[in-house]
Amino acid sequence: TLRGPVLGLESSCDETAAAVLAPDGAILAEAVLSQEKEHAVFGGVVPEIAARAHLAALPGLAETVLQRAGLTYGDLGAVAATSGPGLIGGLIVGASFGKGVAIAHGLPFVAVNHLEAHALTARLPGLLEAGAPAFPYLLLLVSGGHCQCVAVEGLGQYRRLGTTLDDAVGEAFDKAAKLMGLPWPGGPHLERLAGVGDARAVPLPRPLFGRPGCDFSFSGLKTAVARALAQGAAREDVAASFQASVAAVLADRAKHALAMVPQATAVVVAGGVAANGAVRTSLAAAAAALGVPMLAPPLRLCTDNAVMVAWAGIERLRAGLTDPMDHNPRPRWPL
Ligand code: KG4
Ligand code: ZN
Repeated sequence: TLRGPVLGLESSCDETAAAVLAPDGAILAEAVLSQEKEHAVFGGVVPEIAARAHLAALPGLAETVLQRAGLTYGDLGAVAATSGPGLIGGLIVGASFGKGVAIAHGLPFVAVNHLEAHALTARLPGLLEAGAPAFPYLLLLVSGGHCQCVAVEGLGQYRRLGTTLDDAVGEAFDKAAKLMGLPWPGGPHLERLAGVGDARAVPLPRPLFGRPGCDFSFSGLKTAVARALAQGAAREDVAASFQASVAAVLADRAKHALAMVPQATAVVVAGGVAANGAVRTSLAAAAAALGVPMLAPPLRLCTDNAVMVAWAGIERLRAGLTDPMDHNPRPRWPL
C-alpha cells in the first residue's frame, strides 16, 4: 500500500515536468518546463538537445515541486517516471533519476507508459465536472508525436483501434504551418491565421473520411496544402481549409471508433491539438450525435505533464504493480 505522496516525472519529448500527488490523487504541486525555445531555431525537436536540457532541468524541477508541496524526498511513498514511448535520451534521464530517488529512499518505482498516462488522466479525482468516466471509454490522443484512437477498457486494458499511417496530426499542423511561413510549433499560429480565412475558397482533401476503421493519414493533405500555396491561394484561406479538413476527419474517425466500442461512456481527448477550437467543436458534435459526452481535461493536463504520470503511477500501485530497478526505458512501447 501507498505510504506517502507520489513523485511523477516526465521527460519523453520536449517538456521537462515534475509533480507530487497525494495518495488519493490530490495535486500537491506541479511544474512544466517547455524546451520550445531551444528547439524552435531548428524547426522541430532535436533529440540530443532535448536529452541534455532534461538532464540540466529535472533535478532542480523535482526539488521545486517538493518544496512547493512542503515535502522532502524522505516524505515520499513512491516514484513514477515515464519510461516510454518517446525519445530515448530523455527517457533515460527521467527513468534513471526516478530510480535514483527510489533507491536512495527505499521507495517503490513505477515505469509509466506515457500513452497510459494520457489515457488515465480523465480519471484524476475531481478533474472533470461530470466525474471520472466509467470504463470503457474512448481516448482520442492527438498530439505532435501521437495520433491514435484507443479503447480504454480498464487499468492495463487498452485496445488500439486506429493510428496514423504517416504523420501525427500535430505534426501535420506544424508542417502545414511551416509551408505557410509560420514559426514552429505552428499549430496555434495556423489556428489564428485560419480565423481570418475562408475554408470554402480552397477545397482540400479529407484523407480517409468515410472509410472503414479509424486510422488517420495526413501526408496527402500536406501535399495538397503545398500545391494550393504554390498555385497562389491566399495563406489564410488554405489555413482555414486545412483546419476544417482536419477537424472533419478527426470527427469522422472518432465516430467510427465509437461504433467499434458500443459501450463507450465518453470520448476523452488529449494532446496539444485538443487546444484547437475547430477540432474541439467538431469532435464534441460527433460525440453528441452518438449520445456520449466529449471530455477534455484542462489544457495543461492535455499536453505533456507529470501530474498524469504520477496519477498513472498511483493507479498501478493501487493494483499492486511496481517495476524492478533494471526496467529499461523503451523508445517504442505500444499500449
Ligand atoms: O501534446 P503536445 O504539447 O506535445 C506532444 O506532441 O507530445 O502537442 C504539441 C502539438 C504541436 O504539434 C502543436 O502544433 C499542436 O500540438 N498544437 C495545436 C494547437 N496547439 C498546439 N494544433 C492545432 N491548433 C492548436 N491550437
Ligand atoms: Zn504526450
